[in-house]
Amino acid sequence: MYKELQDKVAIVTGAASGLGKAIALRFGKEGMKVVVNYLSKEKEAAEVVKEIQNSGGEGIAVQADVSKEEDVERLISSAHQEFGTLDVMMNNAGVQKEIPSHEMTLEDWNKVIAVNLSGTFLGSTKAIAYMLDNGIKGSIINMSSVHEIVPWPHFVHYASSKGGMKMLTQTLALEYAPHGIRVNNIGPGAINTPINAEKFSDPKTKEDVLSMIPMKEIGEPEQIASIAAFLASNEASYVTGITLFADGGMKLYPAFQAGRG
Ligand code: NAI
Ligand code: BGC
Repeated sequence: MYKELQDKVAIVTGAASGLGKAIALRFGKEGMKVVVNYLSKEKEAAEVVKEIQNSGGEGIAVQADVSKEEDVERLISSAHQEFGTLDVMMNNAGVQKEIPSHEMTLEDWNKVIAVNLSGTFLGSTKAIAYMLDNGIKGSIINMSSVHEIVPWPHFVHYASSKGGMKMLTQTLALEYAPHGIRVNNIGPGAINTPINAEKFSDPKTKEDVLSMIPMKEIGEPEQIASIAAFLASNEASYVTGITLFADGGMKLYPAFQAGRG
């Protein structure tokens, strides 16, 4: 727990499920005031808000599509109107869809880039503008992936969006460091969330994924939420422009484990 997070205000995008939900709940436990953004899962978002309130935090659910500029502006305004400020912007919303690259249409490509990369651009830059206007030394946290650096066939749009987030985050970190605004990425490996539900429901594909993780464990959302809390906290006050990977060793060339190669 980080006691300085008490009463700080955060927006978490895509917070009705998976990693966003776990982060919103963790922020709630820290005593933060949380804007729980959702795209279409209104009921689930309301439940997240209820859980936050039960654990001592405050929350509101706000519908917004992170790929739409006016929606992101409304999201930032809702934090201001409801809680008076914005200290932490957690750009978590993301989508993925398996399609061999030679069959991928421009529409498929644009959809993933719009949510994952442009959505993160909008969330980061609008939050930074608000922080600059209000003299806030805030923390921007972006949900990247191991695929920020690991190529991923059939997911070229997704891997490109996460690769783009590396430069987005590093550039913004450099640009706004003089204002005390920190910008960092989290880079998870394979985590137990709805995005992986189909894959992990089949024991064969789950085993296949496990074989790519040196620690031989699928990650749990709470193991990623703890990184978000750290990056939001004063314990990370000198940390900016990094990607903090949490992947059980997935990107360490697992094929070389046990001295192969
Ligand atoms: P998820 O599918 O449960 O979460 C994604 C959330 O984003 C959903 O609640 C969805 O409704 C929301 N969303 C989608 N489009 C949106 C839009 N236009 N506006 C607002 N919200 C939107 O899956 P998960 O795993 O929790 O994904 C969250 C983030 O974590 C994504 O950015 C994903 O790329 C990233 N990630 C996930 C990993 C995993 O293994 N689960 C590993 C690495 C990164
Ligand atoms: C994807 C997951 C995948 C993980 C490791 C994440 O970015 O969302 O589906 O399991 O990377 O490959």
